[in-house]
Amino acid sequence: MSEAASTVAPRKIIIDTDPGQDDAMAILLALASPEIEVLGITAVAGNVPLWRTAENALKVCEVAGKRDVKVFAGCEKPMAHSLITAEHVHGKTGLDGIELPQPTMALQEQSGVDFIIETLRNEPAGAVTLCTLGPLTNIATAFEKAPDIVERVGQVVMMGGAYFEVGNITPAAEFNIYVDPEAADIVFKSGADLVVMPLDVTHKALVTKPRLEAFGAFGTHVGEACKGWLDFFERFDVEKYGSEGGPLHDPTVIAYLIAPELFKGRHINVEIETQSDLTRGMTVADWWGVTDRPANAHFLGDIDADGFFTLLTERIARL
Ligand code: RIB
Ligand code: CA
Repeated sequence: MSEAASTVAPRKIIIDTDPGQDDAMAILLALASPEIEVLGITAVAGNVPLWRTAENALKVCEVAGKRDVKVFAGCEKPMAHSLITAEHVHGKTGLDGIELPQPTMALQEQSGVDFIIETLRNEPAGAVTLCTLGPLTNIATAFEKAPDIVERVGQVVMMGGAYFEVGNITPAAEFNIYVDPEAADIVFKSGADLVVMPLDVTHKALVTKPRLEAFGAFGTHVGEACKGWLDFFERFDVEKYGSEGGPLHDPTVIAYLIAPELFKGRHINVEIETQSDLTRGMTVADWWGVTDRPANAHFLGDIDADGFFTLLTERIARL
């Protein structure tokens, strides 16, 4: 049944990302969804170095057939630490799982940080959502360079952190926060309206075999890419957790914009460990309200995984 023509204007977003197979799936979901207008994609160093995440963002736009999307390169290293990458999860290219040609789309000249600042200044206050899928280096750098933009941000919807699931890159910390805890600390203390999609949610969004095969059933290049990416990327987590599939992290951010009813969470205080080597990057989430620290984030805890994969598959099949 065709959807009733939407009378609501699409939600304007900037995707800040470190592709990454799961980032790629999130970008495809956004580009396939009429509820969303992608103003630009800003790459950040994370899963792989910046030159690769920027190139990978271009490749994903070309897989989607969306060559008009503006892609920018952001920061090449965290604010206070040397870069830690995750080739052990994502492979050398960051998009292992399918061979893709060198992109023919070009990066924008402007830096990703300046694009974020300029866009937030030019768009009406509250109109733009920052969807972050990697370390928060670009966002925090933009906030530090142009403090006036913080109150103009509609929402920051991020994949990062954990409470019940604790860590995936160390026993205490999730990768996106661990790579740049100082940046995360700036964003969590900024006063911006934060929505946090932690491992507590993404570890419930497992790419089981039937869910993986659904992409292969598209019979398209997009479906082949998705299946290849997911097949490769889940190996690390399946081996580590013994689960029936790998957790699909980043598309939960975009799914939240389209169908927030798929998620449940609490408005709580979340602070970032930046001092201790042992617990660097831990998101100290007051889930049980045992402190009087002010709530600063909508921290999600549960997901309707079947509903999520139904949305993801249906939308990406449109590309
Ligand atoms: O910890 C998972 C997160 O780290 C995901 O965003 C993944 O792409 C990596 O960036
Ligand atoms: Ca990511």
